[in-house]
Amino acid sequence: MPTVSFLWVMAALLAQQSAAPSTALDYDFFKTRVQPIFTAKRPGHARCVSCHSAGTPLRLQALPPGSVTWSEEDSRKNFEAFRRVMVPGSPLASRLLTHPLATEAGGDLFHNGGKHWQSQNDAEWQTLAAWARGQTASSSTATAPGKVRIIQTNSAGDNVHIIDPATNKVVGEITGIEVSHGAAAAPDGSRLYISNEADSTLDVVDGRTLKVTKKIPLSGHPNNIAIGRDGRRVFVGIAQAPGAVDVIDTASLERAKSIPVKGAVHNVYVTPDGRYAVSGSIAGKNVTVIDTQTEQPAWVLDFDLGVRPMAFERNPDGSTKRLFAQLSEFNGFAVVDFATHKEVTRIALPVLAPGKEPVRVGGNASHGLAITADGTTLIVNSRLNSAVYAYSLPDLQLLGSTDIQGIDPNWVTLTPDSKMAYVAIAGSNFVSAIDIKSMKEVARIPVGEVPKRNITAILP
Ligand code: HEC
Repeated sequence: MPTVSFLWVMAALLAQQSAAPSTALDYDFFKTRVQPIFTAKRPGHARCVSCHSAGTPLRLQALPPGSVTWSEEDSRKNFEAFRRVMVPGSPLASRLLTHPLATEAGGDLFHNGGKHWQSQNDAEWQTLAAWARGQTASSSTATAPGKVRIIQTNSAGDNVHIIDPATNKVVGEITGIEVSHGAAAAPDGSRLYISNEADSTLDVVDGRTLKVTKKIPLSGHPNNIAIGRDGRRVFVGIAQAPGAVDVIDTASLERAKSIPVKGAVHNVYVTPDGRYAVSGSIAGKNVTVIDTQTEQPAWVLDFDLGVRPMAFERNPDGSTKRLFAQLSEFNGFAVVDFATHKEVTRIALPVLAPGKEPVRVGGNASHGLAITADGTTLIVNSRLNSAVYAYSLPDLQLLGSTDIQGIDPNWVTLTPDSKMAYVAIAGSNFVSAIDIKSMKEVARIPVGEVPKRNITAILP
């Protein structure tokens, strides 16, 4: 079928052209994290290297007898060969990721070498996706493949719960952190970082033992946190006037600096490309976009209302296209064009059907936003409506919703395969596991006191 493969090559070339030069494939990451996948034995499967160092067009260098990995020179050749099946910035456009992935999980139709991964949650698949997205070796020292976990903080508790999304059960607990606020995970899962409102510290937790190993003093009372893409810095929102973002160095485990911003900070995010840390202020009614290279504010956007949770939509090259922000008292979200720094529209969530009572507690109507890893869906919580909504991207059409039998859907995190949403129900002490395609709740997972922020992490 020469025509088919010719068309495929053309499509790949076009896709490669539209990919940004900013997403580069890292050689060291390939050498240390990707190559071991080619030699790993999966039960019932032939190893990649057993076919791909001989007959196939996509060629690995032959492994010298008895050796488990390639020389530097051969690794370079392998890297050059495998670049061809990658679209930097787009895991799901890269044949390395779609060919050995089960068709039902988003893979392509057929691979003569079989389907090695049943889900995009698979740790090996996630490693390949991280490489496609431009992750570098210096940012991750992981050796053991990890497991997808939902990290659920309990804002009025003294513990943090770890949920396995495969079973929807609590499988671990971090104790000794009172009034936990935000959580972030090192890219290699070796550590979790949790902001501690009782002690005004950033607590460092070992990713394997789940024990607190260090408490790093902050410049003030913290709220939410975020970690840089390379894992070198944790950004902590300081929720007291005049307002700051503390920058914690993860090598020294000390506060490196505090970046002054206008107004107490509620949430901090790092954009998917890692270029900016973005803080939002309720009191200051603004968003401050900080350049992660210079660690200086790059621009500020003012609103008429306090700024609550945010989410970031990607361009095909991984850079940020739009910022979605929830605002105090507004039951919906604002849409901001990231390039021009302008709010372009405001989307209101559906009005409650007559006879249904809105839930009016706290200062926000809509709290919790997330975008699926495949970039197709925006998930939006509404405390007022006791509901969770799904919108299509980029056109922002309402796809579906689910009613929550509880008080205050407060935060949401999604699984890497874009299939499940985990919504923390703050007033009812459970996490609702929602299937995104059908927008149906599939499990209710009891957790601690007043669960709010949650994240998805890959733990060892
Ligand atoms: C049983 C032998 C065999 C095994 C094992 C195998 N492959 Fe393949 N693979 C092939 C063959 C033959 C082709 C070319 C025909 C096709 O596309 O199915 C191919 C094609 C590919 C392609 C597309 C190459 C291109 O030029 O477009 C990729 C990517 C790939 N394999 C990756 C892998 C990975 C990663 C593994 C291990 C997880 C693996 N393969 C395991 C035989 C194998």
